[in-house]
Amino acid sequence: MPTRREAPSSTKDAEYQRLVQLIEPARLPRHVAIIMDGNGRWARERGLPRVAGHRAGVEALRGVVRTAGELGVPVLTVYAFSTENWKRPRHEIDALMNLIVEYLRKYLDELCSNQVHIRVLGDLDPLPAPIRRQVDLALERTRDHRRMTLAVAWNYGGRADIVKAVRQLAREVAAGRVDPEAIDEACLGRHLDTAGLPDPDLLIRCSGELRISNFLLWELAYTELWFTPVYWPDFDRVHLAEAILEYQRRRRRFGGLEGPDPVVPC
Ligand code: FPP
Repeated sequence: MPTRREAPSSTKDAEYQRLVQLIEPARLPRHVAIIMDGNGRWARERGLPRVAGHRAGVEALRGVVRTAGELGVPVLTVYAFSTENWKRPRHEIDALMNLIVEYLRKYLDELCSNQVHIRVLGDLDPLPAPIRRQVDLALERTRDHRRMTLAVAWNYGGRADIVKAVRQLAREVAAGRVDPEAIDEACLGRHLDTAGLPDPDLLIRCSGELRISNFLLWELAYTELWFTPVYWPDFDRVHLAEAILEYQRRRRRFGGLEGPDPVVPC
């Protein structure tokens, strides 16, 4: 899949500034979710090991978090390690695990100074203890930050999260604490890892793949989808601004009708 030729940084700055002028601040997505795909192909095209692609992906993530914060996007969720990624070779899994530690070691101070609150979606229990400790430290240090939430989906699967929520609700019903008739969408939503976050308004998937790969299955019900052929390591502020502008051109109806309020039948 062809990626865009790298533009000189001044051209990129000018293009970014032009796009930012077009974005309506009052209609920003409240939550942008990203499937950061294409690291492996990015590396292969450069004759590099796949891990080099993931490493470049970390730098892309740093830039996108900064841009989302500058633009005023309140919540950014990134799919970094899925429940299915355990099928990859051991050395790639280990490298990905080390990368989250490296990302936090390198950029936690910057995230703190930008008032970023980190959350994790997924099950951290199977992770090696030193990695859990580093993640816990980041969660603790950023707990009270309010400018922006960065939710990192790590050992996350949409189906697994729904199963976990249903199991939890079943336990509460069995214990007599919850009436089955009181279970509605909001109640189930409160048992998901994304509890308290708005549903994503915009989903971005890189690398030309056109699927959602078990990401936020419940939460994406009415999300606007935006696909780009750009590999994640090449994804930058210009692409994010383009995606947001396209989002602002969409007309969202949530199953209803556009225009003034419909006449209520008597
Ligand atoms: C998909 O590309 C990407 C991943 C499975 C990992 C994403 C991880 C990062 C961007 C870095 C680590 C993240 C954090 C939060 C520190 P792929 O490997 O499937 O690419 P391919 O489809 O081209 O093979």
